[in-house]
Amino acid sequence: MKKTLILALALAALCGVASAQTDRDPETNPVILDRIDQWQDLKFGFMMHWGIYAQWGVVESWSICSEPWIDRKGMPYEEYKNRYQALNKTFNPTRFNPAAMAAAAKNAGMKYMVFTTKHHDGFCMFRSAETDYSVAGVDCPYSRNPQPDITLDLVNAFRAQGLWTGLYFSKPDWHHRDYWAPEWATPDRNVNYDIPDHPDRWENFKRFTHNQIRELTHNYGDIDILWLDGGWIRPEWSINDETRPWLGCSQRVQDIDMDALAAIARADNPDLIIVDRSVGGRYENYRTPEKQVPDTLLPYPWETCMTMGDSWSYVPSDHYKSTTQLIHMLADVVAKGGNLLLNVGPDAQGNLPTEALERMEQMGAWLSANGRAIYATRPLYPYCHGNVRFTQSKDGKHRYAICLIDESATQASFTVPFKVKKARLVAPVKKSRVRCQQTPDGSTAVTVFLPTPQQHAIAIEF
Ligand code: GLC
Repeated sequence: MKKTLILALALAALCGVASAQTDRDPETNPVILDRIDQWQDLKFGFMMHWGIYAQWGVVESWSICSEPWIDRKGMPYEEYKNRYQALNKTFNPTRFNPAAMAAAAKNAGMKYMVFTTKHHDGFCMFRSAETDYSVAGVDCPYSRNPQPDITLDLVNAFRAQGLWTGLYFSKPDWHHRDYWAPEWATPDRNVNYDIPDHPDRWENFKRFTHNQIRELTHNYGDIDILWLDGGWIRPEWSINDETRPWLGCSQRVQDIDMDALAAIARADNPDLIIVDRSVGGRYENYRTPEKQVPDTLLPYPWETCMTMGDSWSYVPSDHYKSTTQLIHMLADVVAKGGNLLLNVGPDAQGNLPTEALERMEQMGAWLSANGRAIYATRPLYPYCHGNVRFTQSKDGKHRYAICLIDESATQASFTVPFKVKKARLVAPVKKSRVRCQQTPDGSTAVTVFLPTPQQHAIAIEF
């Protein structure tokens, strides 16, 4: 009893910290809260960063940003930027096969997708009446394809496989004249003019952004998630010590009017999940720690977005994490109450790299046997214990322990800090045995004996 009370107080304190930081005006609409709860059942999603940058195999967009940390291999900035921006004239992914991509994601056990419809460079992977700088624009050879709207093909293909559809959209647009105005230099990622001196230009940019959001949320059927990146575009109240440096020397506040943007996005789709990343408040329906897994449970809806290699974009000879690492990461994230959004960047022709496809297939094999311990589960205290991760079904009737193993193993021994009389494998294996030995301190030593080696992780139900 005392233990439970301490735990509850600790959790409340943790929530208190989180809310003091960002939870001003949190979402209260039950329709959206219910949708977020459903999203928390999905656990595993597929992200794709894909754009004109894939042709050079470089980082997505950032190489045209004039911040000191960016490497352009010594090429003069203007020359580099001009050449990069002209990459729309050669983008022609003739091997793009949306059905194969969607099938690969489904077979990997992924339940939702998030696709970069427009990254910071402003090149649109969808048909937009607002700009010709897109896959459907006359300058882009792919526009000669009978159906050049890549976003439309992807949304249709993933939806047909039963996955939720999510659209990544960069609020900043480095191709728009009213964001990076050509009259002035662009010293960093931010808008390059003083908004109070040019209110009409900012209004133009806002209108353009809202119109593109209208296109994306009205022309592609019911989208499930709108994932907004570029957190330096944010209202003044949300600027804090962590995000202030993103505003560079000029410290310009860039408010995109999220109330209006969200109203447009939800006009036909009232339960759309909106993720205004890092901003906090009403329109950050869940949080997205980037390339990191938190140390322990986070008491709000969240998702780790993670690269399978080192880069979000396609980079030749990227270093892919092993299947074992990826499965361990998934179990770790899920035990802490999160979802894992795993990113792979297709190459310029539209192929998903072979190494990525192999890992996706292997993850799918593990999940099809052990998915009960992952999908639609909720965290179970103490979440992690050595190399074991805990989850439970939503109704609390089924409890799971997932033992993470480095190599293939025929035996796994671990301690569960509960009294357990009987346990069984989630994926039954003939001639296997699970032995539970209770200890005086109330925990249980579990040993699993298997006839043939198992890989990655062994899940038991108890
Ligand atoms: C970071 C990167 C951006 C990428 C995003 C994905 O914000 O700067 O390029 O798209 O992470 O989470």
